[in-house]
Parts: sequence; structure tokens; C-alpha cells
Amino acid sequence: MYEFIPELMREAAKIMLSAHDIDNSIDSKSGDANFVTAYDIAVQNFLYKEIGERLPDAVIIGEESDDNHMEALATKVCFIIDPIDGTTNFIHNYRTSAISVGITDGGRVVYGAIYNPYQNLLYFAERGKGAFVEYANGTVTPIRVSERGLHDALACFGTSPYYREELGDITFERAKWLFMNTRDIRRSGSAALDLCTVASGAVDIFFEYRLSPWDFAAGSLIIEEAGGVITQFDGSPVTLDKPCSILAGNKTCHRAAMESGRF
Ligand code: IPD
Ligand code: CA
Ligand code: CA
Repeated sequence: MYEFIPELMREAAKIMLSAHDIDNSIDSKSGDANFVTAYDIAVQNFLYKEIGERLPDAVIIGEESDDNHMEALATKVCFIIDPIDGTTNFIHNYRTSAISVGITDGGRVVYGAIYNPYQNLLYFAERGKGAFVEYANGTVTPIRVSERGLHDALACFGTSPYYREELGDITFERAKWLFMNTRDIRRSGSAALDLCTVASGAVDIFFEYRLSPWDFAAGSLIIEEAGGVITQFDGSPVTLDKPCSILAGNKTCHRAAMESGRF
């Protein structure tokens, strides 16, 4: 059932890589800095069509769709899709964006794939079967979270962009605390890729105050299958039917962040 997904994502990514005149394809969704481009829509349309043809009964929940059927999560096989995660990067040609596809069954993510077309890196996981990366040369390698403690950690965070103005101060307070208590801090502009860096052990701890299911559905399984932990700030499970906070890391760093009382 999952075999066609990576191939489809690589095909969809050609739409991203062929992008030109992006500035003239931008639309603002709600407020400043919440953008969608014609390419986000084109990638999503492509995936809807191709998945729909192969699996007519599957429900597709895509970021750029107006009618998402969250109620189907409990009972149906659902695809949760972010056609371009890192749209602001995409607009700026920062070359750090990805396509993210998670598949749920009975409300649990059972498969996740995140494709970074700029590096031709495909991260994927199937529940119970581990997490992997496929490199540009076709080599497939298992990935694993790191074993570093917080003091030696590389931390990474998302800024819940400025259209959520009220989250600015509390986000940067936590980021400053991590900066002071880890080796260093990063912000990439793609939550899906951030979760892959945690899963592959480059980054040890990640947080963002508010992410939507399409940002983290695939990544949550990739992290868990790589031996990591992903929860909300209070330690409760992430929610696939609505936005939530995300704290992800290896077990040691996740525990240390929770015990710090900062999250
Ligand atoms: C955004 C990116 C970003 C994160 C935002 C997301 P988008 O997704 O993942 O890193 O900080 O919260 O909304 O809008 O580019 O798909
Ligand atoms: Ca996103
Ligand atoms: Ca997006």
C-alpha cells in the first residue's frame, strides 16, 4: 500500500524544483507571513489526484484544502499531507522545504515519509519497522536519535510564525533558555525537516508552540520509530485532529526539557 508514496512524492517535488517567478504566485492566507503559493496548490492537487486514483476510499487531509475531514481520522485510512512544508523558505529560494505525507489508520500514524528535494533525501518509517533515510545515490540506511544529554545537545525550534503574534515572546524565552543550556540552537523554517534532524540524531531536542497535524504527522512516526519521543509540552500525546504544541527529542533531552519546568 505504501510503496507508491515515495515515487509520487519525488514526482510531485519536480513541481517545486521547476518553480519560477514564485513572488508572483504568492497569496496571503490570513494575516502577514502566512503564505501559500501556486506551487503549494499544484503539489497538493497532484497528490490528491494520484492518491485518489489508486485508493479511492482513502480520505485526504491536506493543508491547502478547505474541506478537511478530521472526523474520518478515527475510522478511515487518512493521508495527512503538507504539500510544501517551509513555504517561506520556498518563496525565498532558501532550499530547505519538504513534502510530508503521513498515513493514519484508526487514528494512529502507520506510515510517514518526508522528502527534501533539494538534497534528494527521503526519510520514511512504517510502524513497527523502524525509520530510514534514502540518500541521493539510492542507499537506504536506518536512522536513530542521538544519545546526547541536554548540555551537549544541538537544539532546534520553530517560531509559530508571526501571524501568531502572541507566541513570539514565549517562544523566544524558551529558545533563549535552550541556547543557554545546550551547545547551540538552530531554526530551519521547516518543521517536517526539523523532526527528521531529530530522528537522524543531528539535532537532539526540538520545540514549537503550535504546529498543525500536516506539519508533524509523518515526522511523529519517523521520530518514534527512530527511538525518540514526541509529545505536547505537558507530555500528553500529540493530536492529529487539531493543532498542538510539540516537544520532540531523544529520551534524555525530552525528559530534561520536561523536568526543567520551562515547557
Ligand atoms: C511552517 C513550517 C515552519 C513552522 C511553522 C509551519 P508551512 O509550515 O513548518 O517551520 O515554524 O509553524 O507553519 O506553513 O511552511 O507549511
Ligand atoms: Ca507546514
Ligand atoms: Ca505547507
